[in-house]
Amino acid sequence: MRTPLIAGNWKMNGLADAATVLAGQVVDAVSAVDGVDIVVCPPACHLERVATAIAGSNVALGAQNCAEVPLGARTGEVATEMLADLGARYVIVGHSERRQFYAETDELIAQRFQYALGAGLRPILCVGETLEARESGQTEAVIAAQVDAVKTVLGESGFGDGIIAYEPVWAIGTGRTASADQAQAVHAFIRERVSADLRILYGGSMNAENAESLLDMPDVDGGLIGGASLKADAFAAICAAARQ
Ligand code: PGA
Repeated sequence: MRTPLIAGNWKMNGLADAATVLAGQVVDAVSAVDGVDIVVCPPACHLERVATAIAGSNVALGAQNCAEVPLGARTGEVATEMLADLGARYVIVGHSERRQFYAETDELIAQRFQYALGAGLRPILCVGETLEARESGQTEAVIAAQVDAVKTVLGESGFGDGIIAYEPVWAIGTGRTASADQAQAVHAFIRERVSADLRILYGGSMNAENAESLLDMPDVDGGLIGGASLKADAFAAICAAARQ
């Protein structure tokens, strides 16, 4: 039994007061949703205030990135131990914006995934193909390489409590969503490659209107939500759709 999971990726949005307000609104809006793991991932500088705002609620805390090494000399990075210390239970690794703008490689991302597991966090590994790759028939090859990089680093220990988010790059922030069938096909491919227990989220312009059809698919276990997670009502509607 895979518990549905809906995670809000706030990206680099919101100053401190706005983060506190949004966290409070999310707590109120999802308080009646049970049977779904609900996570918000604010920017690192807001983690502590959001942790306070969601304390005692059914909303868990996640971070958007982490370092691939323990505490020490890595200017500008945040260690997995620090995230856990702040109360985070999840961390996104390898988001396509990190791959695209900060040249993060599959190997680096795999190391981050491993460190996150070691700190007791649940890493959410993002994978996804560009439009060019999809149109040239390379979707499965791209996804396989991204997933296998983590499998190689983890070896026999496996993905543990880790999660994968399938986020087609062409669907992120574009308003263009993968169809339910397109998502299902890639999710089934990933499950086959990893394990039956793995939770696989869909991400890429998921919103209150299209969530249900995506979440209805047998291998879609939840969503990683960008734009729609910045509005508590829309986010709560997606969480409610995940319960059914
Ligand atoms: P989006 O972002 O929902 O705004 O497309 C999803 C993501 O980047 O995780």
